[in-house]
Amino acid sequence: MSEAAPAEDLRPIISVRDLVKTFGPVRAVDGVSLDIYRQEVVGIIGDNGAGKSTFLSLLTGFHHPDSGRVLYQGSEVQIRSPHTARSELKIEMIYQRLELAPDLTVWQNLFLGEELRRFGLGMARSTMRARAGEVLRQLNTKISPDDIVGELSGGEQQAVAIGRAILFDRQIIIMDEPTAAISVQKVEDVLALIRRLRGAGKTVLLVSHRLEDLIEVCDRIVVFRHGRVSGTLENRDLSVGDLVHAMF
Ligand SMILES: Nc1ncnc2c1ncn2[C@@H]1O[C@H](COP(=O)(O)OP(=O)(O)OP(=O)(O)O)[C@@H](O)[C@H]1O
Ligand SMILES: [Mg+2]
Repeated sequence: MSEAAPAEDLRPIISVRDLVKTFGPVRAVDGVSLDIYRQEVVGIIGDNGAGKSTFLSLLTGFHHPDSGRVLYQGSEVQIRSPHTARSELKIEMIYQRLELAPDLTVWQNLFLGEELRRFGLGMARSTMRARAGEVLRQLNTKISPDDIVGELSGGEQQAVAIGRAILFDRQIIIMDEPTAAISVQKVEDVLALIRRLRGAGKTVLLVSHRLEDLIEVCDRIVVFRHGRVSGTLENRDLSVGDLVHAMF
């Protein structure tokens, strides 16, 4: 860490303490505590039903915890809704169904949705197209702002979804199985995008069953088991075997 970095940058961007979420008798998240920092890529692994997606849903405001605390840059926050997560905490969830409009262009998708208001409805098409072009260049993709989203590959659509996070200056990008449904060749592109997000100072939280992908991009890998964190591994010389061993 550089000596010039301001002290607050060393605090976790987000901390959770003793988070619990039940669904009837099921304790999906059963006392999770975790600190997540700026500019790190954190992988989350665990068996099916270990509570990974439910944990993410507590950070994105989709579900509310039964108990426990969430701190954002050291202050306790209530994540009341996905809107709060996005606009106040700058957390963007990239869903497996990417929530893009397939018939519209890339630039229209980038600006689609509630945030259009932030820029003013009068914002010129040409300005939006130009901003879209800048974001796409930043992501180092070959996609053009005028491409139709439905005609892009899965990996390229992923880049558009990530582009929205950049455009709206999100700090924490959460992805649940981003490489599950795309071709092997495009997986590398998505992993490159994740590295680029970290390079831009963002935090990435990534759930995946593709352990080799996690080893390629993560700084740390957190293991979930029966709704709890059963271990955290620094990603130094980790093998798939190490992760499988940690999971079971
Ligand atoms: N909306 C819900 N209603 C009831 N039970 C739920 C709900 N969501 C999750 N669960 C239960 O909570 C537990 C944790 O599920 P979760 O989806 O978080 O696991 P996961 O680790 O993401 O699994 P996978 O690897 O299969 O995606 C499971 O027992 C699941 O059946
Ligand atoms: Mg899941």
